Amino acid sequence: MTTAPWAKRRTFAIISHPDAGKTTLTEKLLLQGGAIHLAGEVKARGAARRARSDWMKIEQQRGISVTSSVMTFEKDGIVFNLLDTPGHEDFSEDTYRTLTAVDSAIMVIDAAKGIEPQTLKLFEVCRLRSVPIITFVNKVDREGRPCFEILDEVADKLALDVCPMSWPVGMGGEFEGIFDFASGRLTQPSGDSKAYEGKSSQHSGIDDPSLAEKLSAQGLAKFREEAELAQAGYASFDLEAYRHGDLTPVYFGSALKEFGIEEMIAAIARFAPPPRPQPSEAGTITPDNNEVTGFIFKVQANMDPQHRDRIAFMRLCSGTFKRGMKLTPSGLGKPVAIHSPILFFAQDREIADTAEPGDIIGIPNHGTLRVGDTLSEKNSVRFTGLPNFAPEILRRVVLRDPTKTKQLRKALDDLSEEGVIQVFYPEIGSNWVVGVVGQLQLDVLISRLEAEYKVDAFLEPAPYDTARWLNGSDAALRAFAQFNAGNMAKDRDGNPVFMARSSWDVGYQQEKNPDLTFSATKER
Ligand code: G4P
Repeated sequence: MTTAPWAKRRTFAIISHPDAGKTTLTEKLLLQGGAIHLAGEVKARGAARRARSDWMKIEQQRGISVTSSVMTFEKDGIVFNLLDTPGHEDFSEDTYRTLTAVDSAIMVIDAAKGIEPQTLKLFEVCRLRSVPIITFVNKVDREGRPCFEILDEVADKLALDVCPMSWPVGMGGEFEGIFDFASGRLTQPSGDSKAYEGKSSQHSGIDDPSLAEKLSAQGLAKFREEAELAQAGYASFDLEAYRHGDLTPVYFGSALKEFGIEEMIAAIARFAPPPRPQPSEAGTITPDNNEVTGFIFKVQANMDPQHRDRIAFMRLCSGTFKRGMKLTPSGLGKPVAIHSPILFFAQDREIADTAEPGDIIGIPNHGTLRVGDTLSEKNSVRFTGLPNFAPEILRRVVLRDPTKTKQLRKALDDLSEEGVIQVFYPEIGSNWVVGVVGQLQLDVLISRLEAEYKVDAFLEPAPYDTARWLNGSDAALRAFAQFNAGNMAKDRDGNPVFMARSSWDVGYQQEKNPDLTFSATKER
């Protein structure tokens, strides 16, 4: 075991379907972690932030969170970096990218609903990268489905071994507390709110007679029967299996009533992996590598629409970063000095003096840093695995005022740099095409074009259904482009893209052109 500072980092995200309780859990984790002092601050801060920015009107109108952020807190010597992921399904692309920057995740499930579509999608992204998952079954203070049913559903739908780590004594109106199997601790509701306010007792196990002093006879009998079955019927905890993403420990709780929060923090501290080695073109880079390296997984425009400053979010992968250090972005080739990096403590943004692998720092810049860029001291590393997803919706952008072409080009370049949209410049014709994975991104696009770039534009259907990045020899690409000039475009970086009328068309062309690969994701 190393004692290096990075070994004490836990960088994680919370994945869930909207309404399962992610915001509430985030808030309670930060509260427990001492990062905020009053419940409600996550939402309150969000509201204050929103008021500042025009384009975020959409957030207000739709009541969803479009932006994502980073929250850092420290507890018992462990530094937790919680990366917030936008929950709305239309923003999956942004969310996917954020998930490339974490080492583990908490999956929140509503006890009454089980695995919902968005949970499943996000889980699949985690699985692609073997991101280990701790499951939190939320809202046990309300009537939910039987625990066994939920556990079986997780096991079946996600093809994971499940290991119940705690068990509720009743649910809804009959809820009497939660028993933690490993520690033998029973936490119970108290006061008018029936929340967890510190009422807990210690027991030797589920058979401990002293439990009878704490629980109703009926509640205890049912609990013992269920808990016994649960312990016998499911896998026991295996750290290796969890870290490989084959097993998920499952905790029951209530974010609203603060049950299971301490257990969640303890589980992340004890089980979740410290910064993982990252795949690069030259093999994996481990956090103990001396050279400072990291990658940009997100770029966010400054909240102030008058200034075009952006913050690039970098996940540090190796070395100890020091303020003022010069790093070379892979997309730029020349070093930039990073004078005012930002650390994201939940209370406030703080200027970072040093950061360790696993930490996220915000780098203010004017558009030089892009999603997918690797930054390194010696320009020796290029991380792989940050995908650009094939857009599922393509639209032509039409200007109402044709004199604004230059502004539109700038806006589309900027917004695609930020990852809000993807942009394709057809080889023939003058209407640029934007691609997104969800409808909501288009609303964001139009609203930001207007608010930030004063460009009045609308979208019309494009004659394409999907896009594929082309790879192959120059000769093969040239020959293909000659035959398919009407369907060729370039992406923002000048890479050749085939704009297909249908996925059938993609399959057909792939068959006819075995020398070329038609890729649905562009690895950057
Ligand atoms: P999200 O970020 O995953 O979308 O969910 P969020 O935390 O906003 O929670 C969605 C709703 O579920 C909220 O109610 C929240 O209070 C409630 N909730 C979260 N955790 C629990 C829990 O453990 N038990 C119970 N009973 N409810 C929970 P809302 O009425 O939609 O919003 P609000 O008016 O309370 O903010």
